[in-house]
Amino acid sequence: MENTKMTAKRAVSELLQRVLMVPPQHFTVEYAINPWMGGVVNKEKAMKQWKDLKLAIENEGVKVLTLDQVQGLPDMVFVCNSGIIYQDRVYLSRFRHKERTGEQKHYLEWFKKNGFKIYGDDYSECFEGGGDACFSDYGLLWAGFGSRTNKNVYQQVSKIGNFETVKCELVNPKFYHLDTCFCPVSEKAALWYPPAFSQATQNEILRRLPESIAVNEKEATAFVCNAITVRKAVISPIGVEQATRDALKRLGFNVVEVDMSEFMKSGGACQCLVLKL
Ligand code: ARG
Repeated sequence: MENTKMTAKRAVSELLQRVLMVPPQHFTVEYAINPWMGGVVNKEKAMKQWKDLKLAIENEGVKVLTLDQVQGLPDMVFVCNSGIIYQDRVYLSRFRHKERTGEQKHYLEWFKKNGFKIYGDDYSECFEGGGDACFSDYGLLWAGFGSRTNKNVYQQVSKIGNFETVKCELVNPKFYHLDTCFCPVSEKAALWYPPAFSQATQNEILRRLPESIAVNEKEATAFVCNAITVRKAVISPIGVEQATRDALKRLGFNVVEVDMSEFMKSGGACQCLVLKL
């Protein structure tokens, strides 16, 4: 508990030491469970893009651990959906779609092997981990719900630590996970796409993060919000416009763009490929 209090006000992007990634050994688009899915993946290109992202993260001084992808589980590259981490605890995901439930046991195995205390494995409400929930500091959980995660699951998730939970209602099917339209940047700001949220949630986000930067529809569609903030870098897919870049600069952040074209054929990009540990 002491540890919890000490870290309560530090941003996750500052504290981040390690992440988990899954190299796209068997990445394809074989089914469609979100509106973006379709097209043929160029596997070599996907591997190069994944390596570029890994390097961009390592360049900020973060260690990247890897887990092998299992054949027949094409979306396992989006490991951010495996659960949410709080210190040495993980609250495990329960996927909405049967196409992804096969991933769960592999994640559980990895978390056990790596010494995490397991929560949520006996709970039946849908929850898609870091895709829908993220800490901007360890005192506050941004808790998305809508097409994938059930709102009620947060009654359980919130028990794994000492933090406040802010429920965020997603209303636009194109932005089916919180991380497709919201990326915490600092204690006072996120990069976000307001129309993806209910009015009440928009108000709450602005109240708590008054310096937030709203992206336009074109940027949102380029998945610019599916970014990951590490130290003073916002690592995002290509498509950040000058106004957004300038706004981030004023807050002291630099944009690092990585081409994510192959993963966007599955409705994912930078943030989806990375689980913060
Ligand atoms: N095809 C995957 C799905 O629909 C993409 C997941 C993207 N992950 C994310 N955290 N947004 O589940």
